[in-house]
Amino acid sequence: MKNLPVPDVAGLFPELRLFQDPTLARAVIRAWEQAISKGNFDHPERCHFLPREMGLSTRVSLVTHTKIVTELSLTMADILARNLPVQREMVLAGALLHDVGKLLEYAPAGEETIISKPGRRLNHRFTGASLCAEAGLPQEVVHIVYAHSEEGEIVTRSVEAVLVHHADFSHFQALRAALLGKSDED
Ligand SMILES: [Fe+2]
Repeated sequence: MKNLPVPDVAGLFPELRLFQDPTLARAVIRAWEQAISKGNFDHPERCHFLPREMGLSTRVSLVTHTKIVTELSLTMADILARNLPVQREMVLAGALLHDVGKLLEYAPAGEETIISKPGRRLNHRFTGASLCAEAGLPQEVVHIVYAHSEEGEIVTRSVEAVLVHHADFSHFQALRAALLGKSDED
């Protein structure tokens, strides 16, 4: 446990104001606070969303990535909701929390982010889902976090989990393509 003041999660994510259900918003904040206090970073802004081991030189923070994935997920949810039942609140909570476990999976190394020793054994989809369950989030949200990554193929994803999964990979793959394209030009 770190003896540092826990950063203001509500200040970090103004997207929390989009919740209709204040109980859900509080549970999301609780999960982030727990991840920050159990995790390896003084501040979540210091955690990059990709570790050095991925070999992609990007310094995009976990917070920025989370915001992008949240906006992409909600945009898809609003379009698809014209013809499909979509639980928008679950998409919002799941997107805000999908990578929260990275604060435990990763660790700082100077200005860089690397995979922590425990993170080599338990990745963020497990730690994130555990933190969400502990924080009292509904099973739908725990499922989104558990199933958002590639390994999530082992379960049948809900509609909401499909959206967060694709939003996550849209950002990751577009960023990777941009970075690889850049290095091709060198
Ligand atoms: Fe992600």
